Amino acid sequence: MKVDPGTLDWKDAYKLLIGSVLPRPIAFVSTVDRDGHCNLAPFSFFTGICANPMMVCFAPMIRGTDGKKKDTLSNIEATKQFVINIVGEKIAAKMNDCAIEYPPEVDEFVQTGLTKIPCEFVKPPRVKECDVHLECTLHEIVTFGDHPGAGSLVIGRVVYLHVLDELFENGKINSEKLRPIGRMAGQTYTRAVSDTFELERKKQPGK
Ligand SMILES: Cc1cc2nc3c(=O)[nH]c(=O)nc-3n(C[C@H](O)[C@H](O)[C@H](O)COP(=O)(O)O)c2cc1C
Repeated sequence: MKVDPGTLDWKDAYKLLIGSVLPRPIAFVSTVDRDGHCNLAPFSFFTGICANPMMVCFAPMIRGTDGKKKDTLSNIEATKQFVINIVGEKIAAKMNDCAIEYPPEVDEFVQTGLTKIPCEFVKPPRVKECDVHLECTLHEIVTFGDHPGAGSLVIGRVVYLHVLDELFENGKINSEKLRPIGRMAGQTYTRAVSDTFELERKKQPGK
């Protein structure tokens, strides 16, 4: 099969994209609006960019149901701050419940019973049930249209990082204890630590 994605309906193009780029880590993003209402939603178009400065990015698409911006994006545009909470297997179901398209004033923390804890530098709360939190300030939003199927890349600078003490070992995060999950296509997820293997990183001979 060979195809120019521009010739496809966006939903068909989306299926090919999420079937190609996987498994994807999940940014569980907490934000607040100008009035302080909290919002929490998962985004699997998510990755790190670089370590110094520590930069991350994720991509909220335009909502397919009504063609509007997702609450997360509107809140970040308004307040320039967000928190990426890293999703462990233990809260997978609650994370999924936060993907329900509630109106902006509905607080997904309250809906799911997840616990808010304060950040050091940014206003959005962290999710207590997550073991790693990245406090971020907005660097830039790159927008690729405003129609269903389009989306934006939100680039953030990590201004503070929290790792649960039990997971922090010799300067590293113990992924066996973190038990992160990844998103595959559709409604399928993968356990990131159940089937791992090692490959030694090689150097150019003689160097
Ligand atoms: C695991 C998972 C990953 C998701 N990843 C994305 C994503 O990368 N981009 C996106 O636009 N929506 C994604 N969604 C859907 C959003 O979470 C959903 O539209 C949510 O209602 C957005 O909430 P908000 O309007 O409060 O920001 C994902 C949903 C799930 C369950």
